[in-house]
Amino acid sequence: MTASKTWIKVARLEDIDATIPYLVELNNRAIALYRAQDVVFATDDTCSHAEASLCEGEYHGYIVTCPRHGGQFDIRTGQAVKMPAIVPIDVFPVRVEDGDVFLSPDDA
Ligand code: FES
Repeated sequence: MTASKTWIKVARLEDIDATIPYLVELNNRAIALYRAQDVVFATDDTCSHAEASLCEGEYHGYIVTCPRHGGQFDIRTGQAVKMPAIVPIDVFPVRVEDGDVFLSPDDA
């Protein structure tokens, strides 16, 4: 039998803007939340290119743009899709229940 995962409520669905990522913290790690097509995604907040918060940038569709040098990532996979970003960022499973958004500290 596998131990069940712990989930922690980090936001409400309506907290998450349609273009500005929403910053939360889990296990001392800054995580960006996005809402695209009514699905919530979570990635590292810190850009993999240098020290910049993706929550200070914007996202459109599934693509978030880093505010510092304009690198872009796919929020579904964490894959870097535009230079100068090359290294992917981590993505995290998200659970949504009755408008509450949960992340698992087991993943962060
Ligand atoms: S710090 Fe994000 S693209 Fe350079």
